[in-house]
Amino acid sequence: MGAPNLLNPERRMLRAMQLSDAERTWDLSGILAACDWTDQAVAVGAGHGLQNHGLVAVQEETIRQIQLDAEGVEALENGLLEHRIWSWMQSQENPTMQGLQQAFDRHEAGPGVGLLKQLGVSIEGGVLKAANPDEIGEVIGQRAAFLASLPDDAQSVDASLLNHFSSRKNLIQTVERTQRQWTLTSEGAAVSPDDLQETMVITDITPELLQGEAWKTAEFRAFDVSIEAATPRTGRSHPMQALIERIRSIFLEMGFSELVDDYVQSAGWNMDALFIPQDHPAREMQDTFYLDQPKSIDLDDDVMQAWKAIHEHGGETGSTGWGGSYSTEVSQRPLLRTHTTVNTIQYLADHPTEACRVFSVDRVFRKEAIDRTHLPEFHQIEGIIMEEGANLQMLVTTLKTFYAKMGYPEVRVRPAYFPYTEPSLEIEVKWRGKWLELGGAGIFRPEVTEPLGITSPVLAWGMGLERLAMLVLGLDDIRQLYISDLEWLRNQPIL
Ligand code: PHE
Repeated sequence: MGAPNLLNPERRMLRAMQLSDAERTWDLSGILAACDWTDQAVAVGAGHGLQNHGLVAVQEETIRQIQLDAEGVEALENGLLEHRIWSWMQSQENPTMQGLQQAFDRHEAGPGVGLLKQLGVSIEGGVLKAANPDEIGEVIGQRAAFLASLPDDAQSVDASLLNHFSSRKNLIQTVERTQRQWTLTSEGAAVSPDDLQETMVITDITPELLQGEAWKTAEFRAFDVSIEAATPRTGRSHPMQALIERIRSIFLEMGFSELVDDYVQSAGWNMDALFIPQDHPAREMQDTFYLDQPKSIDLDDDVMQAWKAIHEHGGETGSTGWGGSYSTEVSQRPLLRTHTTVNTIQYLADHPTEACRVFSVDRVFRKEAIDRTHLPEFHQIEGIIMEEGANLQMLVTTLKTFYAKMGYPEVRVRPAYFPYTEPSLEIEVKWRGKWLELGGAGIFRPEVTEPLGITSPVLAWGMGLERLAMLVLGLDDIRQLYISDLEWLRNQPIL
């Protein structure tokens, strides 16, 4: 058996015990003397350590002790109240109540007379009289001796005096104390003295320690992995960030590439490119955050001319367009993007003929009043698939696959309307028995794809991230996600 890894106080205590009679029973004072310690806690701690290693046996006994309380300490010094009054009585030829009240203050006079009455003193015509002075003197003497004998074990003190003093306030108190006795076990006796040399035992590794040399020759305290320890609080991802990471990995796994782009955009790309008419109510100031700076965003003239043709009469698509007159000035107004479709459509404009699968998870802005389910800044999970032969079936399957991987196998689509898709869908997910709308999807219309030279069908969707987060985290208030409630954040499951 290897030598147990002991702390220095444990080594010293064990060595001291080995050097004495092996059968000896040690009490605390014996250990303190043999180890040259004054701190009782060191001895008790070392004893516990040795006990855990099986090297000593400990016998513990809880002892109730009677001690002086605050007024008892005073009584010991100045005499018990009945003692002082009795002495005064004896010093007077004619001990009257009046005289007593002059000699003692009123907090003492009243209770003091009460105590003496119990001992046999009576008051006759305002004069204090005792029929049994010897007896009174004896009882008072016993009481004083009792206080002087404390502290003492509850078992060994006189029961009737203990009773008496327990009924009086703050004179005595009972405290519990653990008494320990240690004996060497045969394992303890067998440990070689060589293993009990006190050395430098390192329990904590600090930068200072590692910078010096001492650790090279020191011993390290072994960690006991079976001992329970507090779980330290560590940093962790915000649940929203964790959710974004999970969505990201699902799309990456499904063969998509991530698109990251600015949120300052032009009305042209945010709306005109998506065939949203220039007089559409959603473009109004009360729904969209327009910017004063920059004053306008320069857009390519050819692109704006193509949009003009589409919006006014449908261009070459066979559509009739929206009619009215299209304004390039309106197109070039800067805004905070209201959806991330503004970025996928620009990606397509830059790569009109290459098949692609692109997604983004990013922030959008709308002038919403804040309530349980709305925020003016939120996130969308956006995606497109462009390839020859892409169709509605493929769009629905892709979305169902995504939500199934998120843990929501029940998904349905319903007809919807967006100016830029045909057909258009609403995506719903079943959660706790109810269908919840999570986003929109569809196939881009020719009015969107043709002016940009896009030749293959484009499947597109945009879904609310916070809505999904509410499902995943079981929230009924969207604001909980952003109020930095540390207690709540600590208790969120790791996704
Ligand atoms: N952009 C739409 C929205 O913000 C969602 C959508 C994206 C719908 C792509 C159809 C196609 O709600």
